[in-house]
Amino acid sequence: MIKPRKAIKNFAPYVAGRPIEEIKRIYKLKKVVKLASNENPYLPPENVIKKIKNLAGAVNRYPDSNASRVKKAIAERLEVGEKNIVVGSGADEIIELLAKAYLESEDRIVVSRHSFIRYEMAARLMGAKTKIVRMRNFKHNLKAMAEVAGKKDKFLFVANPSNPTGTYNTKAEVEKMLEILEEKKLRTIPVFDEAYIDFARADDYASAMEFFRKGKNIIIMRTFSKIYGMAGLRVGFAVASEKICETLERIRPPFNTTLISQAAAMAAVNETNYAKKTAEKILSAKKLLEKNLRKAGFEFVPSQTNFLLVKVGNGKKVFKKLLEMGVIVRAMDEYELPKYIRVTVGKPSENKFFIDCLKKVRRAK
Ligand SMILES: Cc1ncc(COP(=O)(O)O)c(C=O)c1O
Repeated sequence: MIKPRKAIKNFAPYVAGRPIEEIKRIYKLKKVVKLASNENPYLPPENVIKKIKNLAGAVNRYPDSNASRVKKAIAERLEVGEKNIVVGSGADEIIELLAKAYLESEDRIVVSRHSFIRYEMAARLMGAKTKIVRMRNFKHNLKAMAEVAGKKDKFLFVANPSNPTGTYNTKAEVEKMLEILEEKKLRTIPVFDEAYIDFARADDYASAMEFFRKGKNIIIMRTFSKIYGMAGLRVGFAVASEKICETLERIRPPFNTTLISQAAAMAAVNETNYAKKTAEKILSAKKLLEKNLRKAGFEFVPSQTNFLLVKVGNGKKVFKKLLEMGVIVRAMDEYELPKYIRVTVGKPSENKFFIDCLKKVRRAK
């Protein structure tokens, strides 16, 4: 019998948020809300939807393998070179491309405990190891991460803001981390995953893009999945040195983004008004959700994202009970946070349904 590679012997599939239709069927429910995958509850900009519809009659052709126009649009928007961009099937594919391109089995990556699980999964795929650094108050301890980095550590992954904790690191903390790494003269490259940047409002938060523009050897990942409401289309990208981009380009599948996703990304890139308005709508819904959680006596971690990490006692049990009532959230045991659930901020009516159900779950205990 043919055997899979040793590195993936104990691999379990990624636990994604459960689909609405599946939960309706299993629990015989009419109403189900999904607040599980940090998606945007709103559709993409009108302009994007129009482009998608228009392209139905062109799907017999392959997309542009180089995604040149998407790169050009992103490059102009972010004021970086076109050769500094790699487009992927979501930021998720970029994580995997980095691992496939750079990680030998003797290499390591550095991540925080409770950090987005896909970094470690990508390292494991290559048989590489992951060094885990404790968080402080649910925040990445960037100083400690830089201090533990050694010769074998190729990447240091930092989601900023972070998933699933929702916390952020300040510009000063990022600067300090870069300083420590530079002093150590390591080749370790920090990867800043900015999937949730559009929801961050803290005064002392800043994108790492400014450090990239100043010539620092760092990688930044972004996605169209969250703020542009395009999770189903699968487009994300990395900003990196030309050398790294060239390497990733050599190994990525030739048609990793589709005709439709490329056109949608190009149309979305300059929709700054949509992005701003949508973020404001979601953030004001978050404020109300926070108020109602507090009123009901639930603690949660302060968040700079479109989701909240809420302390509920037995997270797995509460997740299951909510599911039975038609609310899909995420249990956090795989993130070593068994007392918590992670809830995405949805539309106000969805958030209200979640709170009502959460209160019922507690009363039933
Ligand atoms: C921190 C972080 N990075 C990357 C991703 C992947 O995003 P994409 O949909 O672009 O693959 C997610 C998705 O939830 C995320 O939370």
